Amino acid sequence: MNRRRAAALLAAVLLSGTACSDDDSSIWATTTAPSATSTLATTTSAPTTTTQAGTTTTGTTQAGTTSTAAGDPSGLGDPYFPELGNPGYDVEHYLVELAVDPVANTVEGAVAATAAATADLDTFHLDLLGLTVDSVTVDGAAAGFRREEGELVIDPAGLLPAGEDFVVTVAYHGTPLNLTTLGFPIGWVQAGDLTYVAAQPDGARTWLPCNDHPADKAAFTFRITVPEGNVVAANGSLAEVQDGPGVATFVWEMPEPMATYLATVVVGPLTRVEWGTAAGVVLRDYLPADLAADPPAPLTRVGEMMEFFTGFFGPYPFAEYGHAVVPGLPGALEDQTLCVFGREALETLFDAQPWTLGAEAVVAHELAHQWFGDSVTPSTWQDVWLNEGFATFAQWLWVEHARGAEAYRQEVAGSYAWVAAGPHPLPGDPGATGEELFADSVYVRGGLTLHALRVEVGDETTWEILRAWAERYAYGNAATADFVSLAEEFSGRDLGALFEAWLFDPSIPALPG
Ligand code: TRP
Ligand code: ZN
Repeated sequence: MNRRRAAALLAAVLLSGTACSDDDSSIWATTTAPSATSTLATTTSAPTTTTQAGTTTTGTTQAGTTSTAAGDPSGLGDPYFPELGNPGYDVEHYLVELAVDPVANTVEGAVAATAAATADLDTFHLDLLGLTVDSVTVDGAAAGFRREEGELVIDPAGLLPAGEDFVVTVAYHGTPLNLTTLGFPIGWVQAGDLTYVAAQPDGARTWLPCNDHPADKAAFTFRITVPEGNVVAANGSLAEVQDGPGVATFVWEMPEPMATYLATVVVGPLTRVEWGTAAGVVLRDYLPADLAADPPAPLTRVGEMMEFFTGFFGPYPFAEYGHAVVPGLPGALEDQTLCVFGREALETLFDAQPWTLGAEAVVAHELAHQWFGDSVTPSTWQDVWLNEGFATFAQWLWVEHARGAEAYRQEVAGSYAWVAAGPHPLPGDPGATGEELFADSVYVRGGLTLHALRVEVGDETTWEILRAWAERYAYGNAATADFVSLAEEFSGRDLGALFEAWLFDPSIPALPG
């Protein structure tokens, strides 16, 4: 893959619809020439098919392969990924205790999940792909287990009564697979001297036995042991570092509920750079030594962005924020409190579009996801525009703030022109594959939906709606219908037709305003 081109395409899409490619590929695609039929999975030359374990991935649960009835222990019946997640319990906390060997690219340890049974359980599932399970206990007693594709089926010694908590501990080891859901490695990725997790949408189960669906959010504690010379960044706050002979254990606490796809660890020779606080939030980045000595300009504006967005959206939902800059990732992912940013994307974006905000707008986009996606998380994957449309609109607001009303108008007009030249996947129901779920149009037309709302109800009411959304559903899940009702409640208007037209109608409405 030509990474410069990948980054340029990412920049183009995230910055301005005027510069979008004219295909429907997602922002991470790198086509050699614009093509109406290109897709992420088939056109990238990223290492999409081999896994680091040297085996092919199996048991991916793409929509359409299996229909999962409600109550099927294999899945929650998500319309796009029916086998992700599992019914019958609700995880409250994961303790992830792993020794990582970044050279051999192996993990060894255990995950202990504390969960509340929501039904009487004589058996239940976790999601897990690949790896070798060594033992399973439930409340300290040995439990039976077997593997079925992406499911770890667990038979506890006794019935787990509805309403009561239990702790399931899975000890395991091996080299995590990665998936090809989006056409580049999703899950656990080893790239040069850095190892990192980028799991959205369905890759958490490649490194964690978990209830791998955004509807089951939980607090996390990470205890990650690495050889000397390595640093571990993960979600939340660094609670302590314990030194042992030739190793160090980094303990990270993520007390607010987090979707499994947002869990990350980044391991390698990184430097922690502290920026003080902004709006009461601790800002810290994990950078390679050369960037730590000379931080990329967009990262220096995060404090300003934090103040700007807290003014618009209400308090930042977590205690800390920052970036881990890693090689080889053709984009950036909004992991909770720790955005994982591809170095090539960050650097190429600087000069990709000299006339606009470049990587700075992407940095703003990822920060906005902390409210929209991370704190308020879609109930199902079909509603991913609640993440991407909102973060795109937020980046336009940053552009308006930093460059003025005319710059905002150009973003909107350019985006509209691109969408109108479609057809493109619809933001309200884009489809489950990588090229659809994260299609450019989910971002751009999703952002335009909020622009249309802004024109319809006015600035003040729009900001009230966004603040109320972030507040009412903080740390939880919500669906498109919840957003429409909330917008109607705050505006006193019937907005059903507006959202229907912008999110679901194959023909695009006229550009308002
Ligand atoms: N959510 C990312 C964004 O902000 C896009 C994305 C989805 C991604 N899955 C990913 C990026 C995996 C990197 C790795 O737009
Ligand atoms: Zn995004």
